[in-house]
Amino acid sequence: MGLIRLDKYLADMQIGTRSEVKKLIRAGKVQVGGHVCKNADEKFDPEQTEVMVDHVLVGYAAYEYFMLNKPKGCVSATEDNRYPTVLDYISQHKRKDLFPVGRLDLDTEGLLLITNDGALAHELLSPAKHIPKTYEAKIDGIVTQADVELFAQGMDIGEKKFTKPAKLVILKANVISHVQITIYEGKFHQIKRMFEAIDKPVLELKRISMGALALDEQLEPGEYRPLTEEEIEYLRQRG
Ligand code: URA
Repeated sequence: MGLIRLDKYLADMQIGTRSEVKKLIRAGKVQVGGHVCKNADEKFDPEQTEVMVDHVLVGYAAYEYFMLNKPKGCVSATEDNRYPTVLDYISQHKRKDLFPVGRLDLDTEGLLLITNDGALAHELLSPAKHIPKTYEAKIDGIVTQADVELFAQGMDIGEKKFTKPAKLVILKANVISHVQITIYEGKFHQIKRMFEAIDKPVLELKRISMGALALDEQLEPGEYRPLTEEEIEYLRQRG
């Protein structure tokens, strides 16, 4: 990942602000590669070098990746003055530049990836990649085979173009139906608008997967965990 300045390294790892960490460095409290370093702009390779502050190792996390089971009632943003944000749920993290990859509506639950890896997020959100996103939904109305076919053909939701073919699976058809739906694009309120177009409103919506990444069933709404190395790897391969 290349070289990094000592003061930036310590600030990124939230040891303090740039000026606070400079003070620590000047005071001789910081060791780089086993030697006291009093030079804030010392550059080194964080993957090869141990940094200690007051003899405690400060490991470097270049990127962080979390899976959140987003609860209802929070916004997919980094700040908001009305609602809690999805970042408020990530209590243990090293980096302060985290953001959610894409958006779920205020009342939508489920899988949301939180990271500071902008390049990966960009790849995953790129319309050209057609990353499938699968949701479970409760629908007000009886969902029929005719709806399945309509969703598969693509439909008019008031955009210039019809939606791309979506896969609708009926889990239970009743006054309130349960369905699973996979879309390959991400227009604003897309799923709600698709069901509005057939006059069967969405009552509840939960994302259960994004590409090969599935929501961990152990996570209750509001809970999160870091992604495993394997999960990060297959997101990179899809990206
Ligand atoms: N489609 C919606 O309508 N809402 C979401 O939150 C996600 C997809």
